[in-house]
Amino acid sequence: MSGKMLKVAVTRKLPGEVEARLADLFDAQLRDSDEPLSPGALLAMAKDADVLAPTLGDRLDAEFFAGVGDRLRLIANFGAGVDHIDVKAANARGITVTNTPSVLAEDAADMAMALILAVPRRLVEGVRALESGAFEGWSPTWMLGRRVRGKKLGIIGLGRVGEAIARRARAFGISIHYHNRRPINPHVEEELEATYWESLDQMLARVDIVSVNCPHTPATYHLLSKRHLELMQPHAYVVNISRGEIIDENALADLIEQGRLAGAGLDVFEREQSPNPKLTRAPNVVLLPHMASATIESRLEMGERVIINIKMFADGHKPPDRIIPGLNQRVAPSPPIS
Ligand code: DGY
Repeated sequence: MSGKMLKVAVTRKLPGEVEARLADLFDAQLRDSDEPLSPGALLAMAKDADVLAPTLGDRLDAEFFAGVGDRLRLIANFGAGVDHIDVKAANARGITVTNTPSVLAEDAADMAMALILAVPRRLVEGVRALESGAFEGWSPTWMLGRRVRGKKLGIIGLGRVGEAIARRARAFGISIHYHNRRPINPHVEEELEATYWESLDQMLARVDIVSVNCPHTPATYHLLSKRHLELMQPHAYVVNISRGEIIDENALADLIEQGRLAGAGLDVFEREQSPNPKLTRAPNVVLLPHMASATIESRLEMGERVIINIKMFADGHKPPDRIIPGLNQRVAPSPPIS
């Protein structure tokens, strides 16, 4: 089918350049508003399109696929995570699902590294102290954080993002440990001088900072459970830029409150817009509003990946970023997936 014949429905406002190119290449249905669609409006939009370009926050569950009809052939997700899409249900209806991997890995890794530095070094606490007038001048004993050099970073899910974080952490003198289903490519492991832990329990008990970088799937829901968090050392920190559901947030908040964990840097929460109030109150926790990949460059490149996937599909080829359940949706992925 020629691109112009292909009806592409886009669920959220995208950067102007991306929308212009979509309109140029396809029969694109774009949104004026940035409000998420209601489930009913999402279904109505999808029923009338050959391709749907949804994003995080659009819920494409089994019920959606049961009602979507026969026209929809491709879901070209704007984003790397596809935990809001029931990929098996889509595939069962012959609908292909794609995402936008790789292009946001470096920006996301920058933000993870920022949290890895910000929490032990009490960066946000310092800013708040200055802004609130609590700073009374330098003191040998005031605002002491913990040195990051020489610490051990345990990465859960060393895929693209995890590897990009590992490279940055190495430059700060941090040693790399990781838990995946399988060890990564031995050349990369050697280059990173990374230690593989088949047992998550054993890794958690030994590292100083844990970075969560696996995708959220039914198998990774609360992977960092209360039991797992309790295995960590009291001076250890947790950083999560992946998905909130991977950590038992309540247990994390309790352990931090009780001083059984040293702090956390979180970009994502179990309930996207309402982090656990204990976390909001804790001075040793840095919370961000899901902005790890939020750069102009990454959003433009994500748009370009969406377009490439749709174009390949329109030209009768397999889109390059197809999601294959069980293959690139593992518990703790081996590269190149993250
Ligand atoms: C993704 O692409 O899944 C990110 O979480 C959005 O920034």
